[in-house]
Amino acid sequence: MDAHFIEWLNLMVRWVHVIVGIAWIGASFYFVWLENNLDRSVKNPELAGELWAIHGGGIYHLQKYNLAPASMPKHLHWFKWEAYTTWISGVLLLSVVFYINANTYLIAPGSELSAGATIALGVGGLVGGWLVYDLLCKSPLRHQSALLGMVLLLALTLAAWGLSHYMTGRAAYVHVGAIIGTMMVGNVFFVIMPAQRALVAAIEAGTKPDPSKPKNALLRSRHNNYLTLPVVFIMISNHFPSTYGSDWNWLILLAIALVSVAVRHYFNTRHNGQQFVWVLPAAILAMLVMAYVTAPAPIAAEQDAKGLISDTQAQALISKHCGACHAAQPTSPAFATAPAGVILDNLQQIRLQNERIYQQVVATQVMPLGNMTQMTTLERQQLGQWLQQGQ
Ligand code: HEC
Repeated sequence: MDAHFIEWLNLMVRWVHVIVGIAWIGASFYFVWLENNLDRSVKNPELAGELWAIHGGGIYHLQKYNLAPASMPKHLHWFKWEAYTTWISGVLLLSVVFYINANTYLIAPGSELSAGATIALGVGGLVGGWLVYDLLCKSPLRHQSALLGMVLLLALTLAAWGLSHYMTGRAAYVHVGAIIGTMMVGNVFFVIMPAQRALVAAIEAGTKPDPSKPKNALLRSRHNNYLTLPVVFIMISNHFPSTYGSDWNWLILLAIALVSVAVRHYFNTRHNGQQFVWVLPAAILAMLVMAYVTAPAPIAAEQDAKGLISDTQAQALISKHCGACHAAQPTSPAFATAPAGVILDNLQQIRLQNERIYQQVVATQVMPLGNMTQMTTLERQQLGQWLQQGQ
């Protein structure tokens, strides 16, 4: 398909995905906040709690029923399309970015799996992830939230580690995000919605609703709430090659997931006291430690001894390994214009991007994309040395 058309398809689908994703996560944050901040001292025995709030110049009064009101209101708003459209647009985006150009974006350099098999692995991961998660939630582990969380985190880390053998770092990350997103939308579709339908049906039939279903729905909705921060990081992770580009990318993902779940926990328990307030400085410290340990190793002194490479040699390396894409007129069919606006046609343009090139080619080695031109370690070292030499 035409590269220019794919770019616009990407733009449209991504735009929709972000908008509906904000609507979904916004509603999730809001309702968990509401649940946590209800004033439960209300006298009315029908009510679980209430909340007064002011927003946008108006005063609101919200009430939560213990189980259900005596009769159904005429208009009851259901939150579901935010979740469904986020997932649908997400799967489309996954296809537009990774599956159409599988050789460029999806397949790990050196992987023996074909494009079709790698795509099947990705899609299979989404389905398999949901099945494993749902089984865990129905197992005896469901009574021990912390343990369930740990097992889940370990399973996802294993998935990240496994996928990173067959997929590029960025594709492996986004697939783990898509697995989590599928678990979240599965919770809405298979657990929360049926529970709500049963509740409404019972009210309408005038029978007593089964309290176990809403309880289960609330638990799954809590899971979704904790999963949002890791997912949001993953969705922006493609901007940060020192995370997905590292050999230890799966471990970095685990560390960031732990930090974000802890921060979410602090915000979810804040109304009960400040016993988790230490999480905030600890999270900042953890992020700084990660920045430190992921820092690229400086080029070893012995390599310096190999002597300087000339501007002409450096330019030849760039032209060989980057020229197909990073040119004013790319020859690669996958790109209509230079990706990320980075044009490396002459020495001046190359010098302008000095640090970015170092980061992409030497420190994290995520460029050339998918190492399609099979750039060797020696070539990376040579280019790295030249970049560090300065003008
Ligand atoms: C097959 C095409 C392809 C090749 C070959 C390639 N790149 Fe890229 N490059 C891309 C794409 C696509 C992006 C945009 C990545 C993104 O979406 O984050 C990019 C982004 C970049 C960026 C900007 C990253 C940022 O956001 O800071 C730099 C710098 C870069 N490439 C340098 C290089 C260098 C140097 C080489 C050669 C050693 C190279 N690339 C080879 C496709 C390619």
